[in-house]
Amino acid sequence: MGNYVGVIGMGVMGQSLALNIANHGYAVSVYNRHGQVTKDFMDTRAKGHDNITAAYELKDFVASLDAPRKVILMVKAGPVVDAVTDSLLPYLEKGDIVIDAGNSYFEDTKRRMEHYEELGVNFFGMGVSGGEKGALLGPSIMPSGDRDLYDRHLRTLLTDISAHTEDGSPCCDYIGPEGSGQYVKMVHNGIEYGDIQIIDEAYFIMKHMLGMTNAQMADTFEEWNNGRLDSFLVEITYKILREKDPETGDDLIDHILDEAGQKGTGMWTAIEGLKMYLAIPTMAEAVFARNLSAVKGERVIAAGHFPERPHCDVQDKRGLLENLEQAVYASKIMSYAQGFQLLAKASDEYGWDLKLGDIALLWREGCIIRAKFLGRIKAAYDDSQGKVQNLMLTDEFMEEIRVAVAGWRRVVAKAIEAGLYVPTIANSLLYFDGYTSEKLPANLCQAQRDWFGAHTFRRDDQPHDLSFHHPWEELG
Ligand code: 6PG
Repeated sequence: MGNYVGVIGMGVMGQSLALNIANHGYAVSVYNRHGQVTKDFMDTRAKGHDNITAAYELKDFVASLDAPRKVILMVKAGPVVDAVTDSLLPYLEKGDIVIDAGNSYFEDTKRRMEHYEELGVNFFGMGVSGGEKGALLGPSIMPSGDRDLYDRHLRTLLTDISAHTEDGSPCCDYIGPEGSGQYVKMVHNGIEYGDIQIIDEAYFIMKHMLGMTNAQMADTFEEWNNGRLDSFLVEITYKILREKDPETGDDLIDHILDEAGQKGTGMWTAIEGLKMYLAIPTMAEAVFARNLSAVKGERVIAAGHFPERPHCDVQDKRGLLENLEQAVYASKIMSYAQGFQLLAKASDEYGWDLKLGDIALLWREGCIIRAKFLGRIKAAYDDSQGKVQNLMLTDEFMEEIRVAVAGWRRVVAKAIEAGLYVPTIANSLLYFDGYTSEKLPANLCQAQRDWFGAHTFRRDDQPHDLSFHHPWEELG
C-alpha cells in the first residue's frame, strides 16, 4: 500500500504542512527539487517520523502514492507551479489530483484547471493561511475545484489538518469551482493588509500625537486585545512592542526601517476591487501606504523640504486614546465590509455561489486575520439569511458604529491637523460618510460628462431606465 498524499516543496511551509499531515496519522511522501533540502528535513524536523517518506526522484515520489494520487504543491506562486505540474505529468495517471497550495493568481488557477483537465489530471487551487505555525498546527484552508472529487478524496484530510473553532468547526470548507479558493485567499490578504495598516496608524498616532512610550503602547494594545479587537494581529503587535534588540538592548521596533515589503496579493485585491467597480479604499490605501513607505529615500528628501509639521495640541489624551480604539474598530468594520462586498460581487460575476458567512467562519481561526470579530460577521450573515447589503448595516455592527463615529471623526481630524499620514483610518471614515450619504456631487459629474461627451444623465423626476442629453453648448 502506498502513501495517502504527497507534498512537493520543502520550504518551511511545505515542511510544516507535511508534518501536520503526518501528525494526523496520514502517510505522506515528500519531495523537493534539491534533494539535499529533503534530506535535511528528514534528518531534522522529520527525524523518526514513521508517517513521512522521502523521495529523491519525481518518478519514485509518484510511485510511492496510492491512486488516485494526491499531490500538494507548496512552491512559489507563478511559473514554478506550471513547471512542477508539467514535470509530474509523465508519471501521473488519469484521475490523479494536483493541489496548488500557494498564493497563486486566481486566473492562473482557472487556466491550469482547464489545461490539466484536458490532460486527464484534476487540478485544485487551495488558499492556505496561517504562516509556518499555522501550516504545522492547523491553518485556515480554502480549497476550490471539482466538488465531487473534493468530497471523495480531500475533505477528510483537509478538515483534519485545518484549524478548528472553539466549538469544533473546521476552518476549512469547499469554496467553489475554478480559482475561487485562491480568490478568497487573495481577499483574505487584502483584508490582512487593511488590518495591519489600521493597527500601524494607531501606533503612529499613539507615538506622535499622544507621546506614548513603546511600553505604554504595548499595554494599550494588550488591553484592546482583551476586548472587541481581540485578534492575532493585535496580539503580535503588543508583543513586538515589548521585544528587545539583542544587538543594542533597545526596543527592536525602534531599529526596524520603515519600508514595508509586499508580495502582491494586496495589490491584486485592490485591482479586483477596481475591476468590479467597487469602492474598497481601506484595502487599496493599505497598499498605497506600503508603496509610499517603500520610497524611503524620496521621502527623506521631501521631508527635508517640508520639515515643519503643524502643532496639534491634544488636551484630553485619555479621551483621545478611547476614541482611537473606536476609530480602529470602526475602520476595521469598514475594511471587512468592503472585503465582503468584493467577495459578493465576485461570486455573482463569476457564478461561484460563495457562502460568505461560512467564509467568515473559516477565517475565525488558523489564519493571519483570525479574530473574535469574524464570529460576529458569521452571526451577521446568519441573522440576515445570507442577504447582507453591507456589513455596516447589520444589527451586529450598526449600533457600535453609531457609538464610535464621533470619536472616530475626532481622531481623524486631529491626525490630519497634526499632519500625520493615517490613510486607512481616514479613508475608512470617508468611505462610511460616502456610503451613508443620500446625496453626493455626482449630479455635477454627470452634467460635466454630458457637456463634453454627450454621455447622458438620469433625472430624479423620471424613471431610472431613461437617460437624457442636454444641449449645453447651444445654451452656453
Ligand atoms: C497568510 C499570509 C501569507 C503571507 C502573505 C504576506 O495568510 O498566511 O497572508 O500568505 O504572509 O502573503 O504577504 P505580503 O508579503 O504581501 O505582506
